[in-house]
Amino acid sequence: MVAGNWKMNGLMAALDEVCAVQAALAGPLAGIAADVMIAPPVTLISAMVAKFCGEQGALTIAGQDCHTAASGAHTGDVSAEMLRDAGASGVIVGHSERRSDHGETSRLIAAKAAAAHRAGLTAIICVGETIGERNAKLTLNVVKRQLAGSLPSSCNSTNAVVAYEPVWAIGTGLTPTVDDVADVHASIRADLVTRFGDDGAKMRILYGGSVKPDNARTLMAVADVNGALVGGASLKARDFIAIIEAYKSIR
Ligand code: PGA
Repeated sequence: MVAGNWKMNGLMAALDEVCAVQAALAGPLAGIAADVMIAPPVTLISAMVAKFCGEQGALTIAGQDCHTAASGAHTGDVSAEMLRDAGASGVIVGHSERRSDHGETSRLIAAKAAAAHRAGLTAIICVGETIGERNAKLTLNVVKRQLAGSLPSSCNSTNAVVAYEPVWAIGTGLTPTVDDVADVHASIRADLVTRFGDDGAKMRILYGGSVKPDNARTLMAVADVNGALVGGASLKARDFIAIIEAYKSIR
């Protein structure tokens, strides 16, 4: 999977940018063995689905967060069922910006992922350590704890994707070394297999945090890295296409 997280960016005019991605998926990248997903702000989901999720469209659309309930008195929130109704097929939950800006706990994130499953959405569940935790050599402990707490028992290899995103690598241009990425992904894989058996062996684990055209190939070629969650570079079609091409070149 190559997924783009637009965060709080993008007005209607940004749909033009996605035309180029769609054209690449229908042309040179046709038949790519990857789910290519964009998570725009919720205001753009319907328009994107209408414009790009036609019969030959390989592009799928996701939300960036959802509430745990299907409906109710929760001003400003959006349910997984609403995302599904708008045409989304997935939702990101537990992004570090949600964990820090909104105080979201792993327990809440697991409930959100379960809500996504209830609505028939794929949940992209994010985990990752802060720089303080990394410097204190707590990376594997933190990721293990978040993973155990954030994945509901409804996860399987088709409806759940884990994204390892070191907080200090998000939007900074910094990335872990290939060896560090390999260590964390191997630990996540081992935990997924312990908990979900054969399905855990098949679950996709994405790397996210400053993935750019010039480092995408190296990062996605690491063992147990099954794609990327891309923030800033997903806003520019040229960069996002280059990252999808990098994926294609190694699979
Ligand atoms: P970035 O963001 O690629 O801009 O570092 C990644 C993310 O937060 O998902």
